[in-house]
Amino acid sequence: MVEDGAARREEEGAEALPEVRGWLESVAAAGGLTALQELRVRVLGKKGEITQRLKALGAMDPDERRAAGERWNRVKARLSEAIEARKAALEREELVRQLAGERVDVTLPGTRPPQGGLHILTLVTNRLLEVFTSLGYEVVTGPELETDHYNFAALNFPPDHPARDSQDTFWTTDGRLLRTHTSPMQVRYMEENRPPFKVVVPGRVFRNEAQDATHEAQFHQLEALVVGERITMADLRGAIQEMAQALIGPGTRTRLQPSYFPFVEPGAEFAIWWTHPRTGREEWLELGGCGMVHPKVFEAVGYEGVTGFAFGFGIERLALVRYGIPDIRYLFQGDMRILEQFRGAL
Ligand code: DAH
Repeated sequence: MVEDGAARREEEGAEALPEVRGWLESVAAAGGLTALQELRVRVLGKKGEITQRLKALGAMDPDERRAAGERWNRVKARLSEAIEARKAALEREELVRQLAGERVDVTLPGTRPPQGGLHILTLVTNRLLEVFTSLGYEVVTGPELETDHYNFAALNFPPDHPARDSQDTFWTTDGRLLRTHTSPMQVRYMEENRPPFKVVVPGRVFRNEAQDATHEAQFHQLEALVVGERITMADLRGAIQEMAQALIGPGTRTRLQPSYFPFVEPGAEFAIWWTHPRTGREEWLELGGCGMVHPKVFEAVGYEGVTGFAFGFGIERLALVRYGIPDIRYLFQGDMRILEQFRGAL
């Protein structure tokens, strides 16, 4: 809209009224949005001073009313405009203040978030898997909730066989159980695959144990299974020897001692000759069980004309002895004072 000269003069005339000048000065002086709003109510509100003036027009005679009406409407418009402009200015100031308050100094040194690390068991497991994958083994995993068939029956533990007593576990109401070892994956893998193959199975296992410094109701094992034509006990010896050398160092000695596990024949326990890191003494570290896969196990999965070996051992035991940790329960308590000591270990 283009204002004409007369309107401008009118407006200037309006502004020349002393109360209008006073109001405009108050608008300019309003130091905050609340004060400005109060001023608006006082001047332009329902009971405001200008509203009162406009109401008073009704009592005037027509000519006077028209002139006064126009003038007061113009005053009203002028004041609204001034209030809006002041409001916008105050809001801008407020924003600038807020932005200044929230400014981030990117040159300040940051607060370093605590850096996590892999759990000691994960580190030991990863190291073992590294060793076995470099020897050409495939890594597979299986369920922690198992059936009697895979955990026992197919591994040649007949019902009521005393060997089951050494592997007491937790049962679900539908007759399943938390696996007591990683050996059930031998059967599961053979059902799904044809020989020859070499696999390792890392995983969590469970026992219904009284807990103490060396026994937990949950722990981890690593299982190995190698099946093919003419696989012999010498291959088993070699595999354990390779693992020991990779873990401890070249020339590390290993030994097998006769033992019994229902799913291998002959069965053995194996040990590694090493220097105990805490005592500095050289000794045999009994690690786990091994043997040649029992013909009954091959029968259960329909394999013929092949032989194979298997071994399995507890990962915790290796970690405890390797790092001189005196109590297996420390591994599962989540105590940072312990866990932090193994950050970046291996
Ligand atoms: N599964 C056995 C246990 O937890 C350990 C074991 C023994 C695994 C002999 C094997 C094996 O693969 O051949 O006590």
